[in-house]
Amino acid sequence: MKEGFVVIAYIAASILFILSLSGLSHQETARRGNLYGILGMVIALAATALQMNKDSYSILLAALVPGAAIGAIVALKVQMTAMPQLVAILHSFVGLAAVLVGFATYETGQGSSQVGQIVQLFEIYVGACIGSITFTGSVVAFGKLQGILTGKPLLIPARHFINLLMLVATIVLGAWFLHTPAPEGHKILLIATILTGILGIHLVMAIGGADMPVVVSMLNSYSGWAAAAAGFMLSNDLLIITGALVGSSGAILSYIMCRGMNRSFISVILGGFGTESGTVAVESASGEVNAINVEKAAEIILNSRRIIIVPGYGMAVAQAQYSLAEMVTMLKSQGIDVRFAIHPVAGRLPGHMNVLLAEANIPYDIVFEMEEINEQFKDTDTVLVIGANDIVNPGALEDPNSPIAGMPVLRVWEARNVIVMKRSMASGYAGVENPLFFKENTMMLFGDAKKVVDDILFQIRAAV
Ligand code: TAP
Repeated sequence: MKEGFVVIAYIAASILFILSLSGLSHQETARRGNLYGILGMVIALAATALQMNKDSYSILLAALVPGAAIGAIVALKVQMTAMPQLVAILHSFVGLAAVLVGFATYETGQGSSQVGQIVQLFEIYVGACIGSITFTGSVVAFGKLQGILTGKPLLIPARHFINLLMLVATIVLGAWFLHTPAPEGHKILLIATILTGILGIHLVMAIGGADMPVVVSMLNSYSGWAAAAAGFMLSNDLLIITGALVGSSGAILSYIMCRGMNRSFISVILGGFGTESGTVAVESASGEVNAINVEKAAEIILNSRRIIIVPGYGMAVAQAQYSLAEMVTMLKSQGIDVRFAIHPVAGRLPGHMNVLLAEANIPYDIVFEMEEINEQFKDTDTVLVIGANDIVNPGALEDPNSPIAGMPVLRVWEARNVIVMKRSMASGYAGVENPLFFKENTMMLFGDAKKVVDDILFQIRAAV
């Protein structure tokens, strides 16, 4: 009776997790997706507790109550901008848990048949190794994102060879582990855990600070596979299903991000790309730029019927979204059609712009993804590019020698007027010059994004 109930609860929780993932994939349904996830987790925890021996409840509560309290406090306090490091440190816990489950399972004995034993030793070894890479890699990612460690890639000589050597050594140790009984097996497991831990540190240290979002998503995927391995060790079907969901969704997200940047996943993982801050001065900039002032920008905006706003990393840095929301309301009240165009890798996090616009209560129905809006630029009077650079670089489509050649971009230059708001002629994250700034229909409005939008708002208020 109890087993039957647990099976039904696990199926219900799995369905809720799948619904949660699908809800999180759209802005309008994201809140509902979160609720499904919470409900699934509550059911999963209750069903797992029901399976336990009642004598262990005190241990469970001793871990659950402080854990839940710390989690709730941290989640309530965390700033939106500090979310990546919170996610990174949470992944490290999953990795550490997989390592501990591996060692505990090894201590408490293996399957009865010889095949059963080998299978379980394999699960223990894989779980502990993936868990260890996830743990140390996530701690380093946390350190870089928090600014405790330098964001610059650490590029030691022959680093790819060293990584390869550690990988081969892990495989060889694994083969040895499967055929070595305790206590020697225990030592091999410990050596492999330490080795993969060093591999995790070295892999993530070599990756530039600005590539961290891809790395965090990749570690998210690893943490899922580590959880799935722990599920096999504990014979817990729900943990296997949840681990596989997290593992595959993290891998898909990493792939989407790499495609958005037109970079291969391997090139990100091999590291060495990206500057610490993501913005470097471009000295080779050539041609004349047409710089305008705030008054002129306000006049062009008010004479437009259709406007598309393209936000980027600079909008996030300047926190210009609230002023922008006010400007949108103002323009809409004048009968001007205003839309937002969001590039898949605008900013520095997946969904970065969507979160900021939602925070400022900008309605979802005027926010469009790149594929939905790219054809509409040619019928647009004015495009406002706010703190964006690489995602509107025509060189990606027109110059086969550009470092970002082939990256899909927003074709803003097809509009009648383009107003680019940024502080200088500096490059974006990719460190390449942007020919958009020199196009005939482009006007540069230099200044901090928030200040510039506030000043335009002032001019518009005075004019209407
Ligand atoms: P970027 O190309 O990095 O350009 C941002 C621009 O914002 C800079 O050129 C900078 O110019 C300007 N800026 C900075 N602070 C500003 C401020 N206070 N006010 C006004 N402007 C300011 O950003 P993007 O267009 O959003 O493109 C994103 C880039 O990040 C892509 O190359 C993408 O591949 C990369 N990336 C994204 C992700 C994700 S998941 N989103 C992950 C890793 C890498 P000034 O210094 O002249 O002001």
